[in-house]
Amino acid sequence: MINIRKINSKNSKSCYELDLKTINHWNQNQWVNELEKDYVNAIAIYLNNSMAGVCVFLKIYDELEIRYLSVHPSYKRRGLGKKLINNIIKECKNERITRIILEVSSKNMQALSFYEYFGFETISIRKKYYRDGSDALLKEKKC
Ligand SMILES: CC(C)(COP(=O)(O)OP(=O)(O)OC[C@H]1O[C@@H](n2cnc3c(N)ncnc32)[C@H](O)[C@@H]1OP(=O)(O)O)[C@@H](O)C(=O)NCCC(=O)NCCS
Repeated sequence: MINIRKINSKNSKSCYELDLKTINHWNQNQWVNELEKDYVNAIAIYLNNSMAGVCVFLKIYDELEIRYLSVHPSYKRRGLGKKLINNIIKECKNERITRIILEVSSKNMQALSFYEYFGFETISIRKKYYRDGSDALLKEKKC
């Protein structure tokens, strides 16, 4: 069974464990801190009650910023990322949010293909922003 739920700092351990298997973006304390912020929203997709993907985002007036997105490596390319983003797009429509923004490395081909699928466009580039020398691409999708 697949379902999407809102999550909070009580779920930070599961998020950290998933993150360790994907992009290793935040340590356990950072996950707790992030999910405790009252302006931060997060949703997770569960497969048979096991966390399979997470998206962390902020809503600032008419804009939504995705701060984190990943899907468990065993469940990639099964449409779970698509379900998470579609859930967010629905939320944007309900709340009159007009655009979604995010930042992604120019070397992250999987994510670039994924965001292209949803029609995100590059609106700004931070040259050599990441430690590996890749550029940071600021992407936008109007909704
Ligand atoms: C990016 C990510 C979240 C996509 O999640 P996913 O569940 O595998 O993606 P979906 O199955 O929903 O894919 C939706 C569409 O995106 C595109 N896409 C996704 N992964 C792709 C890949 N590896 N290569 C090419 N296209 C891809 C395809 O068009 C796909 O549709 P299709 O399968 O019908 O062809 C996942 O690859 C991931 O967790 N990557 C590591 C973390 C990361 O890089 N996060 C982004 C940081 S900004």
